[in-house]
Amino acid sequence: MSHGQFPNLIVSRHPAIGHKLALLRAETTEPKKFRELVREISWLVGYEALSDARLRDIRVRTPLEETGGVELADRIGLVPILRAGLGMVDAMLELMPTAQVWHLGLFRDERTLQPVEYYNKLPDSATVDLCLILDPMLATGGSATAAIEVLKNWGARRIKLINLIAAPEGVAAVEKAHPDVPVHTAALDRQLNEKGYIMPGLGDAGDRQFGTGHTD
Ligand code: PRP
Ligand code: URA
Repeated sequence: MSHGQFPNLIVSRHPAIGHKLALLRAETTEPKKFRELVREISWLVGYEALSDARLRDIRVRTPLEETGGVELADRIGLVPILRAGLGMVDAMLELMPTAQVWHLGLFRDERTLQPVEYYNKLPDSATVDLCLILDPMLATGGSATAAIEVLKNWGARRIKLINLIAAPEGVAAVEKAHPDVPVHTAALDRQLNEKGYIMPGLGDAGDRQFGTGHTD
């Protein structure tokens, strides 16, 4: 469902997403379960984000006769933002088995909250029709905005951002810098806290997937 305050934001409203989100947020959810939930919610949000993907007509032979069918015509590139976006890749590949995957490493400097690029596995030129940036968290929007800039400079024309939880500050920042990029998310949360964490959020998505720490 699109959101009145943010024209480019699509917040998924499916009951299954709501149920899984509460489990994802719970501090008692351990990394194994957390990874499963990231994967399941990514699948559901990704499914919605692909609703306008382009198709082409094909012929298919059933055991009984030949009939018409369709296949995905868009060449799709998945761009997970390391680390936390890694947990979204498998679900998206289940939806789009022919998608290519390009890893982009960005981390937020904890002091300045500015994104720092440390890994870029994009090929020399854009070879796809649609790029889906995968990152569970949209906080200040610094990482997403930087990732979109990298992709645009590289030649990507259609880009969508796929998140699980977004803060209003981050959505506003992406809309301002890149009004042509739709943002799909499972939840729009209240605000950022003074350390740049999404409230109520889920804590640190990378740490919770990979069991590497606590937010305090
Ligand atoms: C998290 C998250 C986003 C970024 C969001 O990554 O996965 O990439 O923060 O914050 P922003 O919108 O303010 O830029 P983090 O920097 O913690 O790296 P990690 O995934 O390696 O833990
Ligand atoms: N990154 C996270 O993993 N969580 C937040 O709340 C903000 C940025």
